[in-house]
Amino acid sequence: MGCQMNEYDSNRILDLAKKINYFPTKKIEEANCYVLNTCHIREKATEKVYHEVGRVKKQFRDKKKPIVLIVGCVAQAEGDILLKSEKYIDAVIGPQNYHSINNIIKRIDEKDRENNLTEFDVIKKFDELNLVKNSNTKASSYLTIQEGCDKFCKFCVVPYTRGPEYSRSIKEIILEARQLVKNGSKEIILLGQNVNAYKYKNNHLSDLLYKLNDIEGLERIRFTTSHPKDYTKDLIEAHKKCKKLMPLLHLPVQSGSSEILKKMNRGHCINEYTDLIEALKESNSSIKFSSDFIIAYPGETDKDFEKTIELVKKIKFINTYSFIFSARPGTPAASLDIVDVKIAKKRLSLFQHITNEIKKNYRKKLVNTFCNVLFENKTKNNDNSFFGRDEYFNSVIVKSKINLTGQIKKVKISRNNQNTLFGELIDYKKREEFAA
Ligand code: SAM
Ligand code: SF4
Ligand code: F3S
Repeated sequence: MGCQMNEYDSNRILDLAKKINYFPTKKIEEANCYVLNTCHIREKATEKVYHEVGRVKKQFRDKKKPIVLIVGCVAQAEGDILLKSEKYIDAVIGPQNYHSINNIIKRIDEKDRENNLTEFDVIKKFDELNLVKNSNTKASSYLTIQEGCDKFCKFCVVPYTRGPEYSRSIKEIILEARQLVKNGSKEIILLGQNVNAYKYKNNHLSDLLYKLNDIEGLERIRFTTSHPKDYTKDLIEAHKKCKKLMPLLHLPVQSGSSEILKKMNRGHCINEYTDLIEALKESNSSIKFSSDFIIAYPGETDKDFEKTIELVKKIKFINTYSFIFSARPGTPAASLDIVDVKIAKKRLSLFQHITNEIKKNYRKKLVNTFCNVLFENKTKNNDNSFFGRDEYFNSVIVKSKINLTGQIKKVKISRNNQNTLFGELIDYKKREEFAA
């Protein structure tokens, strides 16, 4: 469940568990150990955990119970409650403690339980992870470079579930990146809750980008998620100079109203955000943007909401992720008066209608244009279709009799729907015609 960081963590948990002879299975009924990696960002997070555990319980009714571990952000935030209310759970492990998973499995096997591991032990975690090879063999791989958050936006649980900001060393990141490239990765997506707050000794994110840019065999670099407040000049410049850096930037803004940004404690106003967008476009004219929005934050008036609409029309984000404000236990915004639910739903629906139209228009214009696609896998359709992503992270499907996985190919887009572009491979002759 949750964000890309959880996906990275889940893969690393698998890498660790292999050391004690636990291997992944697709058949849940065969599992000796069940690990649920959880997210606490919006409502019903804890209910989802109980629901999943209930499903496992049912499945194993007549069989030997597997070890059940709840890891991730719900484990961190609500570990004690989970353990008290659901005896089927053997242990809860926070995001900074999963390096201990093998010891915990062993102890549970030996019936010696220590079942709440939710300390912030991020240095030890990465020390241990560095000793275990990242076995990910995907064409596009995640690599966590930064953890935690010191920003304390009033609505957000992350500073409480992931702890303070921490950056991994350049050396260990480069080592892991080289390993991934050796495994076959062509693209690396650097991850961090505030990835552009990355700072190791005197090195910033831009320094790391240039070093990664020099890795032979690595073709593409992306990073997410950036905070507008941490966007520095050197990083803006890297969008021009770092040739392997892809031209899509996910830059969450949350609201188009400076008053709401202030109430959220985002640390910047809307003019600073639009100035940053202009500076990035100046640095690299092909750059495009995606963003996150919270609709109906406590105190959001019709006027504030209109400003958000104005902003999306102005920037024309090619992708947006939008959610109605969700009061999260323990955050300062949880005690504020919420916007009437009907009004909130109406605003979300209008917002999504407008942003979908923007996306539709953008995608319509892509038909009959060319892009470069990194193919990640064959689709499940069994019709020789391959799935990949273009420079802007758009999903592209192409038919091919030869295996395209792991290759970057020039594609002509022939049609599209809301979420996918469909295209055909361009052979060299046609490429020359196109170039002419
Ligand atoms: N660090 C990133 C940033 O500052 O933009 C975002 C990290 S958060 C995991 C991803 C997104 O979840 C946020 O950008 C925000 O839009 C959304 N989100 C976080 N807390 C929320 C809440 N209480 N209600 C609704 N959406 C929320
Ligand atoms: Fe949450 Fe704000 Fe930190 Fe992003 S910057 S993780 S929204 S507290
Ligand atoms: Fe969710 Fe934790 Fe990520 S709350 S969004 S899994 S950092």
